[in-house]
Amino acid sequence: VGIMAEGNQKLAPTTLVVFGISGDLSRRYLLPALAAICRSSDIGANLEIWGLSRRSLEPGDVLNDTTRGLTDNFRVLQIDYDSAAAYQQLKDELEKSPAQQTIFYFAVPPAAVLPIIEKLGSAGLNDSTYRLLLEKPFGQNYDSAKRLIDQTKRYFKDEQIYRIDHYLAKEMAQNIAVFLGSNAIFRGVWSNKFIERIKIEVSESIGVEGRGGFYEQTGALRDIVQSHLLQLTALILMKPCPDVFDFSQVQIRRLAALKQLSLMASQSTIRGQYDGYKDEVDNPESTTETFVALSVTSSDPDWQGVPIRLVTGKRLDKKLTEIRVHFKKSQATQANILKLRIQPQEGIELELWVKKPGYDQDLQKLSLEFSYQQHFGDLPDAYEQVIVDAIRGRSNLFASDEEVLASWQVLQSVLDGFIKGKPELKAYPPGSSAEELAPRV
Ligand code: BG6
Repeated sequence: VGIMAEGNQKLAPTTLVVFGISGDLSRRYLLPALAAICRSSDIGANLEIWGLSRRSLEPGDVLNDTTRGLTDNFRVLQIDYDSAAAYQQLKDELEKSPAQQTIFYFAVPPAAVLPIIEKLGSAGLNDSTYRLLLEKPFGQNYDSAKRLIDQTKRYFKDEQIYRIDHYLAKEMAQNIAVFLGSNAIFRGVWSNKFIERIKIEVSESIGVEGRGGFYEQTGALRDIVQSHLLQLTALILMKPCPDVFDFSQVQIRRLAALKQLSLMASQSTIRGQYDGYKDEVDNPESTTETFVALSVTSSDPDWQGVPIRLVTGKRLDKKLTEIRVHFKKSQATQANILKLRIQPQEGIELELWVKKPGYDQDLQKLSLEFSYQQHFGDLPDAYEQVIVDAIRGRSNLFASDEEVLASWQVLQSVLDGFIKGKPELKAYPPGSSAEELAPRV
C-alpha cells in the first residue's frame, strides 16, 4: 500500500486517531495546531480526526472558538481503553474509512501509553499503514525507556514510531544545521580550537500550569534537559551533512553527537524549586525540581574540553531559549559571542568588537543581528510542523529510540543523585533570572 506522499505532494487520505481528546495536551497544543494546518493548507481535504475519550462527548464539548474550524473533519468516539473488544470495533470502523494511513496520537498520561499500544498490536492495528505519534516522557530513566522501547517494538517497527520533541521542529532549531553547514566563516571555526564554552538556556516564565500531577512525576531534568536541551546540544555538536538539505542524515548525526556526551562532574549541578510550587501541586513534601543547571562535555576530539552548560527553569524572569557560543580570546583578539535565539524573536546575533569613534583608542562591543520575524514574518508553530511531518512520513525531526536511550544515559548519574536528594534543593523566588540562580562557573 502506498501510504505516504513525499515532499509537498498531495497527501494520502489519513485518519488521525487521538487517544485522550478531552485532555490538556489535545486542547492546548494538538487541536490548535490542527486547526492552523487546516486553515493554511489543503491538508484538511484529506484528513479525518477521530477524537477518542472514555466519556461520551460531542465535538462541541471539545472544540472551542480557536478550533471550531475543524468541525467538518472531526468526530468523537467513546472508548473503553481497557477493553480488547473496543479495539476490534475501532479496527472495524477504520477499515470502513477510505483512509490509506492511520496515525495514533497519544494525549494520555504516560502510564496509559503502553497498555494502549499493546491492545492496538493485539487487535492487528499495527501493519505498515499505521503509525504511532508519541509524546514524551519516553520513560522515567534509561531502564524504563528501554523497556518501553522494547515492548513497543514487539508490535511496531521503529520507522512506524514518531517520538515528538517539538524543539527539533522549531524553525531556528531546524536552521542550526543549515546555518552552520552553509556558512564558511562558522564551519571553519566550529571546534574546540576556537570555541571556549557553550551555554544553552531554556527559561520559562510560566509555572506548571495545572499540570501538577504530571510535573510531580517528571521535574525539569526529565521534562526539558533529557529531551529539548540535549537535542539542541546534539544539533550544535553534530558533524555537518555534506548536503545541508539532505535531512535523512540528521537523525544519525544527532545520535552520534549524543553518544559522545557525558556529564561534566567538575562543574556544579544546581537543583532548585520555585517558592509556591509545593502549594500549587498540593504536596508540602515535594522535592521535584523546577530549575536545573548542569554541564556536559563531548569526547569527540573536535569538542573535548569545551564545557556545555545547560540551564532550564520555570517561573523565571522571562521566556527565552537561546544558545550562546563563546569564542576564545587570544592575545591579540577579544572574545566573540554568537547567539542563536530559538525563541521568542528568533534570530542570530554576533557580538563583534569595533573601534569606538573618536580621538581615543577604545574598543566597543556591538551586535550584528538578524531577525527571522523582520525578514519572514510570523513563523509556523513547531507543533504544526511535527504533525505535518508525521502525516507526510518524514521522520528526521523526531527522536529515534537510540537517541532517547543515549540521552537518558548522559543523565543517569544526575537522576540517581536527585533521588538521593543531591545536590540540595534550593528554593528560589518566582521571577529570578537563570544567571542569578546559576552564575557562571
Ligand atoms: C514541553 C514541556 O515539552 O515544553 C513543558 O513539557 C514546557 O513543561 C514546554 O512548558 C515548553 O515549550 P515551548 O514551545 O513553549 O518552549
